[in-house]
Amino acid sequence: MIQQLAIVGLGLIGGSLARSLRSAGFVGKISGYDPDPAQCEAALKLGVIDRAGTSAADAVALADLVVLSVPVLHTVEAMRAVVPGLKVGAIVTDVGSTKQSVLRDVATACGGEVPAWFVAGHPIAGTEKSGVANSQPALFKGHRVIITPHAKQDLAAKAQVLAMWEACGARVVEMEAARHDAIFAATSHLPHLLAYSFVDMLDRLDHKHEIFPNAGGGFRDFTRIASSSPRMWHDIVKANKECVSELLAKQIEDLQKLQSLMAADRWEEVQHIFERARAARERYLAQIE
Ligand SMILES: NC(=O)c1ccc[n+]([C@@H]2O[C@H](COP(=O)([O-])OP(=O)(O)OC[C@H]3O[C@@H](n4cnc5c(N)ncnc54)[C@H](O)[C@@H]3O)[C@@H](O)[C@H]2O)c1
Repeated sequence: MIQQLAIVGLGLIGGSLARSLRSAGFVGKISGYDPDPAQCEAALKLGVIDRAGTSAADAVALADLVVLSVPVLHTVEAMRAVVPGLKVGAIVTDVGSTKQSVLRDVATACGGEVPAWFVAGHPIAGTEKSGVANSQPALFKGHRVIITPHAKQDLAAKAQVLAMWEACGARVVEMEAARHDAIFAATSHLPHLLAYSFVDMLDRLDHKHEIFPNAGGGFRDFTRIASSSPRMWHDIVKANKECVSELLAKQIEDLQKLQSLMAADRWEEVQHIFERARAARERYLAQIE
């Protein structure tokens, strides 16, 4: 049980975490801070938080556990604002989608080293919607949360963050930060970049006005994630640039291969690629069901 929780960044993930913990009875009072007054007002109105701080330092002043839930490139600024307000013994964690950059940025904000009381985390749950108004109390139920411990990690702080996520119905997995970034570049960061690029390419075609009204369910499924926050995904792709660029180069190579197979009328090979991809996706579905 956490007596006092503070959420810094009252958006989809911060709001959903506050609501999950409240409905699980795992938290006493919740304070919050967001530089956008509309998010603070909505969070108060929806009962997501009990008190909105006048600053990040004010919001965290009484907190036993502080959750940074800001776009990843705002980590340095958010952490710098939080540190002066922390009480002795407070634990700070985050929910950012990239982990090496967050650990680097926390070290920068804290004088060069990641403090023992910081725990880096990433819930593998979300939606293409942003903002506290879209937060959901059951968002993390049945989902994974990755924790990426660092060299100075305090084990009691890690155990507290693990208990917090388990109270939301999530399953916590530990992983090295570099491995996390390589994996999520593949399963999440590259797919978002491809979805944005694909929709943008269609939107620049001369006959785009005929394209979108005629799109069906396949187009909707394939492009759903292009409705995600461009600001958040700009930050994620920039923060994990090396891993995403490496995979993007492989993807471009594979697309060029498909293009040359088509040009050479080598249709059996095209079909073979489709079959291999379908089998891989079915193996993935069998694993998660
Ligand atoms: N949305 C998802 O599907 C998802 C899933 C897993 C992890 N994440 C991660 O969660 C984090 C938050 O994402 P979200 O979807 O809740 O975004 P969001 O846009 O809904 O909320 C982010 C909030 O942070 C606030 N903010 C920006 N700078 C700040 C600062 N310096 N101090 C305090 N608040 C600040 C913004 O005003 C905004 O309200 C990101 O790091 C993202 O990578 C998102």
